[in-house]
This record gives sequence, C-alpha cells and structure tokens, in this order.
Amino acid sequence: MANLIDGRAIAEKVYVDLRREIAELKSNGITPGLAVVLVGDNPASRAYIRSKDKMSRELGLHSVKLELPASTTQSELLARVEELNRDPAIHGILVQSPPPKQIDETAIVQALDPRKDVDGFHPANVAKLVSAAADGFVPCTPLGIQRLLVESKIGISGAHVVILGRSMIVGKPLALLLMQKNKNADATVTVAHSRSRNLEEITRSADILIAAIGRANFVKSGHVRDGAVIVDVGINRIEDATNERGYRLVGDVAFDEVAKKAAAITPVPGGVGPMTIAMLMSNTVKACRQLL
Ligand code: GUN
Repeated sequence: MANLIDGRAIAEKVYVDLRREIAELKSNGITPGLAVVLVGDNPASRAYIRSKDKMSRELGLHSVKLELPASTTQSELLARVEELNRDPAIHGILVQSPPPKQIDETAIVQALDPRKDVDGFHPANVAKLVSAAADGFVPCTPLGIQRLLVESKIGISGAHVVILGRSMIVGKPLALLLMQKNKNADATVTVAHSRSRNLEEITRSADILIAAIGRANFVKSGHVRDGAVIVDVGINRIEDATNERGYRLVGDVAFDEVAKKAAAITPVPGGVGPMTIAMLMSNTVKACRQLL
C-alpha cells in the first residue's frame, strides 16, 4: 500500500512560517490584505472562496470577500477590479474561475495589477514563470504541488514527471515550474491530455504522475507503474445518496486500485487542496512585502 501524502499536515507547516512573517509585518503596522471575488453562484466556486476567506481571517489578514450576482457585466467587474488595484489595503486579488459566460476572463486577468495577481494568471507573471524571475507569482496549485513533493522528500530532480491536463491554472504552469533549473525542479516533464495517443504507455513511464484532467476516477491501475508517486489534483462532485449533502468528492484517480501500486499518493480531499490555499496565503504575504 502506498504512503499517504498528508496535504493538511504539510499546509500546517507552511502556516507556521507564514504566521511568523505576518506577525512581523503587523508589528510594523502592516496587515497583508487579500480580496477574493466571485461572480455568480457556482456552488463549488462558492465553497472555494469561502475557504480562502476563512483562512485569511484565521491568519489575521485583512480579507475582503466580494460576491457579485451572476448578472454582473464585464464593465461592472472591471470597475471592481480597478478599485481593488487602487486600494492600498489590498495586496492580493483573486477572481475565482470560471466566471459566467458574459465575462471575458482574459480581459479581467489583464486588468489586474500584476503586482497584486496572487493567482499568477496575468501575462506578466506567466512570462516571469517562463524566465524563472523570483519576483513573479506562480499559480497556487502548481506551487502547492511542488511544495508537497519537496516537503515529502520525493525527488523531483531528474525524475520523469507526467502531467495529465494542460490547463492555464494547473497543467501548463506546473510543467514550466517543474522544468525550471533548480534543485526543487529539474524534472523531465511530459504533458499529456485528452487527445494524447497511447496514454497508458505515457503515464506508465512516469516516476511522478500528476492528474489534473477534471474527470472522476480517470486514472486506473493500468495507467500506473509499480512504485510511482501519484498526485491527484481533481476535485469532482459525484452523486452519493448516502451522504447528507447528496454528493461526495472524488479525485481524478481511482484511489483504491492505484494506491495498491503506488509508492505514495495524495488523497482527495486533504491532498493538493489545502496546499493550494496555503500557497495563496503565501503569495499574498509576498505581494504585500513587494508592494512596501
Ligand atoms: N478555479 C480553480 N482553481 C482556481 C485558482 O487557483 N484560482 C482562481 N482564481 N480560480 C480557480
């Protein structure tokens, strides 16, 4: 059976350091501020921004949660982003993705002050990730996955990392991050996706397999070689009448069968999710410092 990688415990370690940093800033009269913006009422998105707001408060950050109606127009949202750009009490801004269809997400991301773009979605920050500039912002989920592997003493350097999924939020930035030239990266990265031919052959060659395709229980034991490390980024709601909420969360990996073959695996929930939030908090503190 695989070792379970405990994302909650590793996130707690991150918070120990962050709490110290935040206390130091506060003793100098500075409180890092984070604004999380949700347009519409997607239940999963609402749950995510609630967790982000809650964690900001727990850490003693200045937290602003904006919940805008599903009917919000592009220009209304742009006006709110511009207000937050100008607000000196706000150091980090996150607009939860995906927005409703009348919103042009690319235009919203480009309107963010890149110095407050704690999601790392602005083109200026994407460019900084490509060039490994230290003052840029790396998207929170990729950053959290890297930290999870490093803290778990799983060697990334020289390993074959196969990423399933090519999104702008996870797959693409994660590939850029793990192929960087440094001791916490230096991986050989393959990005596979829904159109990849001979997918099982590719995933079976992974030392570290990272599933971020958004399909419940997609990765089966046939995709995995004995002794591989499995990181499950998926958070899929599937119907479950036995659960009081009527659904339960499952990852992109068929956990039970894959855990029998893997050397280590992240659970869902309690794996990557808590790390994503921890990295958002960390990016917010970084933004605050850099804006001083
Ligand atoms: N939707 C899913 N993950 C994320 C994220 O990391 N940031 C934002 N803004 N939206 C998301």
